[in-house]
Amino acid sequence: MRLNRIGVEWLQIFSNRYRLFPFTKSYCTHLQPVGKEKVYITTPIFYVNAAPHIGHLYTALLADAVARFHTLHGKEVIFSTGTDEHGLKIQTSAAKHNKSPELYCDEISAKFKTLFDRSGVSYSYFIRTTDETHTKAVENLWTTLVKKGYIYKGKYEGWYSISDEEFLSEDEVCDQKKESGEIQKVSVSSGQPVVWMSEENYMFRLTSFKAQLIKWLNTGVVYPEEKRSQVDLALRNLQDLSVSRSSSRLSWGIPVPGDSSQTIYVWLDALMNYLTVAGYPGHLQNWPPDIQIVGQDILKFHAIYWPAFLLGADLDLPKQIVCHAHWTVDGYKMSKSRGNVVDPEERMNRLTETGFRYFLLRSGTVFTNCNYNDDVAKDIINAEIVNTYLNLLSRTSSKSINKQAIFPAFDGEAFQSFFTEEERDMFNSLSDLIEICNNHYKGFLCHKVSEAIFEYLRWSNKLFNDHEPWQLCKDPINESHVRCLLHLNMETLRVCSILLQPLIPDIANQVLDRLGIREGHRLIKHCEERRQSHRDRDHLLIVQKNYIMQRIK
Ligand code: MSP
Repeated sequence: MRLNRIGVEWLQIFSNRYRLFPFTKSYCTHLQPVGKEKVYITTPIFYVNAAPHIGHLYTALLADAVARFHTLHGKEVIFSTGTDEHGLKIQTSAAKHNKSPELYCDEISAKFKTLFDRSGVSYSYFIRTTDETHTKAVENLWTTLVKKGYIYKGKYEGWYSISDEEFLSEDEVCDQKKESGEIQKVSVSSGQPVVWMSEENYMFRLTSFKAQLIKWLNTGVVYPEEKRSQVDLALRNLQDLSVSRSSSRLSWGIPVPGDSSQTIYVWLDALMNYLTVAGYPGHLQNWPPDIQIVGQDILKFHAIYWPAFLLGADLDLPKQIVCHAHWTVDGYKMSKSRGNVVDPEERMNRLTETGFRYFLLRSGTVFTNCNYNDDVAKDIINAEIVNTYLNLLSRTSSKSINKQAIFPAFDGEAFQSFFTEEERDMFNSLSDLIEICNNHYKGFLCHKVSEAIFEYLRWSNKLFNDHEPWQLCKDPINESHVRCLLHLNMETLRVCSILLQPLIPDIANQVLDRLGIREGHRLIKHCEERRQSHRDRDHLLIVQKNYIMQRIK
């Protein structure tokens, strides 16, 4: 049964990939010849207790933009995502919906996959923790840790948050007054209620790795650096970790090898997904991960538990853990009880896939929480994508001004004669934009990338207005002026479109199609290469009547 599902899943992954990135397109991202530099990028795997919301989508989109950026540098990207399907939280949700955990997981996992496919998340692996290969990997790691003496039988007594699937010390919980006046204990960091647990469990010798963890953390693996304090706090309170639960309470999970009265703790199970994708327990490929993207709520798990498990198994540690801030809605954390959960599918219907993707990436940051608002999203998409970016395309390709429908060659003489020094400087500084965007992408600052690119696109629209080509083209004497103006605008569009591909792959590639830029000429290195070419010739635009995207009402 399971193997069949895995087979079907692979087929689906491939068919989805071909649909999203057909072979004929240059944005066929991760299917590349061997021998290139490889980059392994991961997202966390998503809990299937409820349908995805914008926060989940943001994590996946940020990782996708980074993955696409590396592909545009000619690297081979291995990009994994998936769903986290075991644990009390899922077991309880399935029961609430009167469904078997298997069926419930299948349904919600499919929702994540559909959403990611729809929004252009170009994963190479979609792993599910209920996959048989994953179960084998977890069992193997467990046995290894036992053999090495890092797992022992003990008793856990303390607080547990089911919603976060997290053990908490006395300092990490506080009292909170409910609306009814009743006092309840909650987790300080997430605000979720906690329960008191006292159980015979298997314990992991987390404390024995403290010195090695500090050494690794001191190499600067956590980004941004400010988030390190959160990790240091958890390190100060470090205790051995309970890594199993009694099966009588938690049945939905992987049984402890050799002791089915206990089920493996869901975080040990989940974190292992990165190793399963790399082929563990067989020959490890692409190990260790280069970039692991996580939200700020799960940094502790990735910067302490995860490396400790790896150290216990003598495996190399990840090179970078990137932690991003959260999305709030109307200033509040999203929650069902508050009724402010934003459904990404519904928003994409209204704002388009590209529009919505763009808005999340250009507004979210790694540093500070960002607030979601429908009107702001609509205004930004209209102002930037439609009225600035696509407007420039439609102006430069309009029949009345660009009569031959061409992307004219660069004409140095006309450039010198008809354009001011300031205009020439701005155009020449397009080369700087490439470096600026490279640096921002490397710093996971998509909002800065978009800011820098739109400065040029706005300038280019202004240049078009200032030169009034609709007047110039009335007299043939102005032909070289108009041609040069079109070149400057289209070259700006070309470079900006190449750089925009990680943010809005679909539309950026449609613009490049229309500009007549051949597939295979859309990598970052092509931004500069063509600019320096003196053998540039006019080439034809691909003129199509339909709009790429219309203003959103
Ligand atoms: N299953 C664990 C991760 C295991 S990884 C080995 C988990 N799942 S989650 O579904 O709760 O969260 C998945 C990702 O979504 C995390 O990176 C989390 O930070 C992110 N987000 C969840 N809510 C979010 C916001 N409101 N805003 C931005 N991202 C948020 O944790």
